Amino acid sequence: MLTEEQKQLIEKINLLKKQKNAIILVHNYLNPEIYEVADYMGDSLGLSKEAAKTDANIVLFCGVDFMAETAKILSPQKKVLISRMDATCPMAAMADVNEVKEMKKTHPNANIVAYVNTTAVVKAEADICCTSANALKVVESLPRESPIICVPDRNLARYIQLTTARDIILWPGFCHSHHFITEQDVIGIKDAYPNAKVMAHPECTKQVLDHADEICSTEGMVNFAKKSEANEFIVLTEVGMVNRLKRDIPEKQFYSPKFSNEQAGICPNMKKTTLQDVYDVLNEEKNEVVVPEEVALKARKALDRMMELS
Ligand code: 13P
Ligand code: SF4
Repeated sequence: MLTEEQKQLIEKINLLKKQKNAIILVHNYLNPEIYEVADYMGDSLGLSKEAAKTDANIVLFCGVDFMAETAKILSPQKKVLISRMDATCPMAAMADVNEVKEMKKTHPNANIVAYVNTTAVVKAEADICCTSANALKVVESLPRESPIICVPDRNLARYIQLTTARDIILWPGFCHSHHFITEQDVIGIKDAYPNAKVMAHPECTKQVLDHADEICSTEGMVNFAKKSEANEFIVLTEVGMVNRLKRDIPEKQFYSPKFSNEQAGICPNMKKTTLQDVYDVLNEEKNEVVVPEEVALKARKALDRMMELS
């Protein structure tokens, strides 16, 4: 339920959007009141596509930094703003560009696949980017004879390795929100809802993914749950996803496990944005995302190569 104050802010934001020819892109994990001002909600791939094709003058991104940077790289002529400058992705920070350069020297024949959850400078070192929605397709598009370095998420990389049987070199990064979901958490909720289908994000560990009926991106979960004949779903990703699923598919039931590790299932950075932030950022046109042109040029090549596959 929205408060009166929230309703008023939503009205003011919608007015500002019209006045400024702005669009607001919102990642699925954001708090549900932010959905109310979204022109588009979705996963990293869907948000990147929207950023690339919009003819708005201003793109306000509600998510974390690498997503807004990606929007800026794909839409360099637009003013791209981020709802919170301090909304970062700790996993993206686990791939340092100098370490990536060293890895390239050690494996000169390898192709580098940069998950979209990386900094712009790391994307600039990559041959191609991927998101959770297209990672398998991206890897399959690369030559079979060369090894592939997947940065930064080792869980996603292991999932790709097991599914494609490619020679994948793992990077030691991980996302706390997914990595710390345990198999016991999953067994507990499966016992409580034995008829529910299990949807898991590929950033979860293999032990968790082994329990999944569907492994997919966050938007993939919306599509799977809509199409499925099942009425109950266990959702193994950041808890905010349950709000998005309930909003789009109110007739079905969605459950998150009771997590035994306090870092599991929650991305504090995705929860920072408030409606007041959205209003202030759009009103003042502050928090502009800047990517140096020489970095953007190289990173765009890796992103464009991915977008061509989508
Ligand atoms: P999606 O692209 O599946 O939405 O995932 C983004 C992310 O940050 C997952 O933790
Ligand atoms: Fe990064 Fe994990 Fe948060 Fe996604 S959920 S933005 S991967 S820290």
